[in-house]
Amino acid sequence: MNPNTDFIPFAKPSMGTEEEEAVIKVLRSGWLTTGKEAKNFETEFAAYTNTQNALAVNSATSGLHLALEAFGVGPGDKVITSPYTFTSTAEVIRYLGADPVFADIDPETFNISPIETAKILEKDPSVKGIIPVHIAGRPCDMDALLELKKKYDIFILEDAAHSFPVKYNGKLLGSIGDAGVFSFYATKTITTGEGGMIVTNNSSAAKRMSVMRLHGIDREVWDRYTSDKPSWQYSIVDAGFKYNMPDIAASIGREQLKKASLFLEKRKKIADFYFEKFTDLDFLKLPEQYKNHGWHLFMPRIIPEKLTVTRDDFIKEIISKGIGISVHFIPLHIMPYYKNKYNYKEQDYPETLKAYNTVFSLPIYPDLSEDQLERIASAVINTGKSFRRTS
Ligand SMILES: Cc1ncc(COP(=O)(O)O)c(C=O)c1O
Repeated sequence: MNPNTDFIPFAKPSMGTEEEEAVIKVLRSGWLTTGKEAKNFETEFAAYTNTQNALAVNSATSGLHLALEAFGVGPGDKVITSPYTFTSTAEVIRYLGADPVFADIDPETFNISPIETAKILEKDPSVKGIIPVHIAGRPCDMDALLELKKKYDIFILEDAAHSFPVKYNGKLLGSIGDAGVFSFYATKTITTGEGGMIVTNNSSAAKRMSVMRLHGIDREVWDRYTSDKPSWQYSIVDAGFKYNMPDIAASIGREQLKKASLFLEKRKKIADFYFEKFTDLDFLKLPEQYKNHGWHLFMPRIIPEKLTVTRDDFIKEIISKGIGISVHFIPLHIMPYYKNKYNYKEQDYPETLKAYNTVFSLPIYPDLSEDQLERIASAVINTGKSFRRTS
């Protein structure tokens, strides 16, 4: 391996012998699907997040879907979210025949603007809830959103896909609204390959989600095979989904959970490194140096007036130096599906569009070595200098 030339991937999971051994144990146990590993993962996750219920699922997308269903969202309802997110956040609203209503972002944080959200709520009484997304691990203004929840009697479902384990006013993000959903997708802050977790203190919603997570069966799989009641005896109480987390994935999640705060410390150190290296560059606008940030993503913006190239060409040059770069996010309102269905114009969400046109994401994960970080920093600095506008 040549540390000077090898490609540095944009994201890479941190897997150790602990995860390997945990998986082997499950493989040899004779029980691969949802069972006691998933149960234990849920118990440990509920304790970690200080919530009454944690439900392991096969993705954050399924978790968001289950939560909206449990909150009674249905055809004709409206749910507010931001267009500056991954499609999962909005597509789950569509799964239920409801419509997403987008509120523009706060340009400093990339998160949903409570002011824009309030404008929509003022005009539209058919809104049932809000899905705030803590982009990159930066907490949304939950105090302001909770005020809106109270005033308009709506639910808050936190999309915490980027923000485990980040605290806000002493509580973990995801545990502040009516429910929160975490993602354990391969690039996330802790991972099970694919997977997710719902947390909630609403016990009737938890019950509903637990039934709908497995075909609408009134008994959990593990219970069917361990209790005195025969395993073949169950009732279908609704047309549910197949969203359960298998034990193989859960066993990885349990080990990752133990490392979550260590991973966060490492990501914070990398963010500090980037801030130090880039602080004097006049062609970059750095993300806000917020103390309780999860740094799932590090998202600087180029300052177009200072450069002779577009963002796309700027990152193309960095990629050519062997660095994995990504862009979060292509706004949903300019994606063909949402654009055509709701007749959006690009300028409908000006702050979202401005952020998208200038932003890029740098690698930020615990396994990055010092050499790799130095290479990334040099690539960004040299690219900026070579494209700097001189007059
Ligand atoms: C903001 C956001 N929400 C939800 C999801 C969906 O997560 P999953 O892949 O676990 O379904 C993602 C995935 O990248 C995401 O970025």
